[in-house]
Amino acid sequence: MNQISRQILFSRNEIQKRVQELAGQISKDYAGRELVIIGILKGAFIFMADLVRDISVPCKIDFARLASYGSGSESSGKVVMTKDIETSIKGRDILIVEDIIDTGLTLQYLIDWLKERNPHSLKICVFLDKRKRRKVSFEADYVGFTIDDGFVVGYGLDFNEQYRFFPDVYVIDTN
Ligand code: IMP
Repeated sequence: MNQISRQILFSRNEIQKRVQELAGQISKDYAGRELVIIGILKGAFIFMADLVRDISVPCKIDFARLASYGSGSESSGKVVMTKDIETSIKGRDILIVEDIIDTGLTLQYLIDWLKERNPHSLKICVFLDKRKRRKVSFEADYVGFTIDDGFVVGYGLDFNEQYRFFPDVYVIDTN
């Protein structure tokens, strides 16, 4: 607990406002359609739960689990799928919901995987976009906030499985 910096990067009120804006945009873009929303475990679970409750188009929910961080704050660079989706996505409109893009390797892996199943469309919604460390050229369609380099926790994001339950987002010193 004492390694958490006292300064909140995004407060729960800022987050709530931004999530409502994103949900409004998504609802507008998909008006008259039905979405399949795929959350990436574990980090996206809180963001996704808030987002879907503000989206006004009908949606089905599924989850995938991908791992690239063994422990600590450095990516191993190797992505592994440890839980696949259970919904048929052929011909469907898919929205992937992720907590954060860092190198982009995790999302690139999932996109390649899902595209092989021929969805009608595939878009990405991320809570946080850490642009500086990108290793693959990649843009999300919906972004909550863009952040600088630095390790963040809270609102679903963890450091060694700690701090996910914090309602606000903090930067921590991982050194
Ligand atoms: P990428 O494959 O490098 O884009 O990494 C994406 C994954 O790394 C995310 O789903 C997170 O689980 C994790 N990650 C990257 N940066 C952070 C961070 O600042 N805090 C917590 N998790 C992070």
